[in-house]
Amino acid sequence: MEIRAEQPEDLNAIQVVNTAAFGRANEAHLVNQLRGIADTFSFVATESQQIVGHILFSPVIVEGSYPDNLRMLGLAPLAVLPQYQRQGIGSLLIRHGLVQCAHLGYKVIVVLGYPEFYSRFGFISSKRKGLKCEYSVPDDVFMVLELQDGVLDGCSGTVRYRSEFNAV
Ligand SMILES: CC(C)(COP(=O)(O)OP(=O)(O)OC[C@H]1O[C@@H](n2cnc3c(N)ncnc32)[C@H](O)[C@@H]1OP(=O)(O)O)[C@@H](O)C(=O)NCCC(=O)NCCS
Repeated sequence: MEIRAEQPEDLNAIQVVNTAAFGRANEAHLVNQLRGIADTFSFVATESQQIVGHILFSPVIVEGSYPDNLRMLGLAPLAVLPQYQRQGIGSLLIRHGLVQCAHLGYKVIVVLGYPEFYSRFGFISSKRKGLKCEYSVPDDVFMVLELQDGVLDGCSGTVRYRSEFNAV
């Protein structure tokens, strides 16, 4: 198993992974739309040269009160081919992605997803850090991770994803 940055020749396989994992084309289409936009980071998991998993990070903003120069990304989508799920590949992609984002100087990651899963990586309900999601979702599924402790102290506001997410 290898985790590496997306390469130009991976695009078709990434589309296949997202479509198979979500059982529809919306997320694959979103990935294609976000590709090449500043502050997007895409990683793949490969097994015997085959792409079996994919993760994307893209820029989000806070509308409200927040520290200067807060560099923040949204984790989405995350997809693993159905026959490879529950073998730790999604977790590897997340851990690799978080390390890369921290190295690149990002301070905060948000995610919309399964609380039991993302809490394993340190994500907590964003409400505890004063942030809410632009979408109408239960409090516990919108989560936040500080890559630098305390960077969200005193923060409050609404997190907005790129407008391409509205169509998903
Ligand atoms: C979610 C997903 C990326 C996880 O990848 P993975 O390689 O299976 O993840 P791991 O093996 O590292 O970890 C498995 C954990 O994922 C979580 N999980 C996976 N599917 C889940 C589901 N349908 N509901 C709740 N939790 C789920 C569980 O916490 C699970 O832990 P467990 O095996 O101890 O129960 C993968 O299942 C997937 O592609 N699902 C379809 C796409 C999707 O829903 N993506 C959005 C994620 S927010």
